[in-house]
Amino acid sequence: MIEGKNLSKIYEYGFFVKHKIVAVDNVNISIKKGETLCLIGESGSGKSTLGKLLLAIIKPTTGEVIFEGINLNKLKGHELRKIRKKMQLIPQYPDSALNPRWTIYNSIVEPFKIHKIKDYNINELLEMVGLKKDHLDRFPHELSGGELQRAVIARAMALNPKFIVCDEPTSMLDVSVQASILRLLIELQEERKLSYLFITHELDVAKIVGHRFAVMYAGQIVEEGLDVLEDPIHPYTKLLVNVSNEDNEIPDIELEIKKNLKIIRGCKFYRFCPNSTEKCAKEDPPLVELDNKKKVKCHMYI
Ligand SMILES: Nc1ncnc2c1ncn2[C@@H]1O[C@H](COP(=O)(O)OP(=O)(O)O)[C@@H](O)[C@H]1O
Ligand SMILES: [Mg+2]
Repeated sequence: MIEGKNLSKIYEYGFFVKHKIVAVDNVNISIKKGETLCLIGESGSGKSTLGKLLLAIIKPTTGEVIFEGINLNKLKGHELRKIRKKMQLIPQYPDSALNPRWTIYNSIVEPFKIHKIKDYNINELLEMVGLKKDHLDRFPHELSGGELQRAVIARAMALNPKFIVCDEPTSMLDVSVQASILRLLIELQEERKLSYLFITHELDVAKIVGHRFAVMYAGQIVEEGLDVLEDPIHPYTKLLVNVSNEDNEIPDIELEIKKNLKIIRGCKFYRFCPNSTEKCAKEDPPLVELDNKKKVKCHMYI
């Protein structure tokens, strides 16, 4: 369905002195039709950047994205725009996705206008996401967080996409509202066989929505599989799961991710790892597949 091969994104910043950070570092990822891959990791680990790479919102420094057999990085502007209909982003801040000066109606019908589609049914979209007709004339600031996220979902669903990046879509909502939005996203997925990259830093949420899980640390996927949360084996995942068992939220364990975004030779988790050896400082371990289909990036398992 969608596949990222050897994806990297290096950001450069600074005017006099150029700094480089590797936000995404040689990631391979694939999501099947109807599947939710849950991408878990602390703030700054590169989750949103990876999501934007898959949606071809930003260009990779290396690597490519293949969507339904088509290499997105080889497409021209108008070809890419056509494919973009099938790929959508549901962002963390719903207000960032809607123009504050537009009514909800205008925001929801905008995708139809951009793609010159005349034959659309807005009532169907409203019903699908659980909004009422009188929401249409209102402005974003007149809606609650949950209603706003429903409007964003309606807009994202307008063109009947196949792949959606849900980037922490409920993290700004009250817990009571969270559950209903998650239910809506799961329902829509089942009805339409959608593929989701679901980004979250909350393990509770991950367990509800995820079919498969990938853990990101300093721009790399360090562990991937079906039972990552029940049976973590990478030292970083173990740390995450253990610390979060107390309050169920992936804490900022302040492992100085930023420093580890530099180009370094060995394992990026080396300095914090309780099991590290000399080899870990010198060689970056590859992500290898174990017998039980789980993938892990650690010298202990090679
Ligand atoms: N446009 C940008 N320019 C420079 N650095 C960026 C940009 N976007 C993200 N970064 C940096 O890349 C790293 C990964 O960011 P991000 O993908 O947003 O992580 P996450 O979503 O996991 O919090 C962070 O250190 C962030 O500061
Ligand atoms: Mg993010």
